[in-house]
Amino acid sequence: MLELDVDKLLEEAKRKFSSAGTQEELLRIKAEFLGRKGIVSQLSRKIKELPQEERPSFGRKLNLLKEGVERLYQEALKRLEEEKKRRALEEWVDVTLPGRRLGKGSIHPVIRMMDEILDIFSSMGFEVVEGPELELDYYNFEALNIPKDHPARDMQDTFYITEEYLLRTHTSPVQIRVMEKKDPPIKIVAPGTVYRRDFDVTHVPMFHQVEGLLVDEGVTFSHLKGVLEVFCRAVFGEDIRVRFRPSYFPFTEPSAEVDISCVICGGKGCRVCGGTGWLEVLGCGMVHPKLYSYVNIDPDRYTGFAFGLGVERFAMLKYSIDDIRLFYEGDVRFLGQF
Ligand code: FA5
Repeated sequence: MLELDVDKLLEEAKRKFSSAGTQEELLRIKAEFLGRKGIVSQLSRKIKELPQEERPSFGRKLNLLKEGVERLYQEALKRLEEEKKRRALEEWVDVTLPGRRLGKGSIHPVIRMMDEILDIFSSMGFEVVEGPELELDYYNFEALNIPKDHPARDMQDTFYITEEYLLRTHTSPVQIRVMEKKDPPIKIVAPGTVYRRDFDVTHVPMFHQVEGLLVDEGVTFSHLKGVLEVFCRAVFGEDIRVRFRPSYFPFTEPSAEVDISCVICGGKGCRVCGGTGWLEVLGCGMVHPKLYSYVNIDPDRYTGFAFGLGVERFAMLKYSIDDIRLFYEGDVRFLGQF
């Protein structure tokens, strides 16, 4: 007797289809039942072994099995397609969205200004040297002809660490340190951080200076004027005018302040230059002969000039910034512009 349990076979087909994960697997399972060598074909071939009267009902069962497997296959196919769609939706990326930008750093405007200044002096043959920020009273004041009771100390309200050590108030001590070590000819610029107890729109407690020193035989004030005029024009443009105004520093004699014609109004007078048409940019002078006695350089043989400038001051003028404190608030919207 030929047994055909349609329900059991359909149950088996259902189990197989539901565990299939790809369309190929589905086709393979379908072929197990409906293919040329599949269960249905095999059973059809056996119909002739059955007695005549059983053949119709066997044939109907076979048809039910065929239809059932076909239906299960279609259902499984649909399930696979839906799963595929759902996964595509879940994993969907909008390739048209703008990428996440990595914040790019930029050079701080004060450092950028400093680099520009050093480049100009380097191109004129000055060597770049550095000195310590924690400085001895001796180098910061004493050897620069500013003894303990000198009123010039008051002009630089100072951070003392001990009686002897302080945060340097300017880069001028590098002059002494260099002259102590090296015989003329000396031709250096010394960039660095300096500290004073100041805080307003044009003063911060930590700022930067660039010191210059040139000592050799036969150096005169005209050399000083020449170098600083070339320098100021290189920074602010060929059209500016430069003037030297008598001033006082204990470590230079004679001393001068350098003014440039106002970069905003061109010298007519405006708010930035206080109506004078001039902007003060740096201090300078001929090295005071007294300094040579501290460092063993023969003042009868050598002369020299020195200058010192505030880098923030230059950056403010160059980039038209009216409050120096903006440089140090750490606001990337401001800093990112340079
Ligand atoms: C000096 O410091 C002298 N050592 C410069 C010098 C060197 C003169 C060599 C002669 C020969 P002064 O105190 O003027 O000078 O400071 C120089 C510059 O530093 C000023 O023109 C100003 O631009 C800047 N400066 C001074 N104090 C501050 C501050 N608190 N914040 C920002 N910049 C400052």
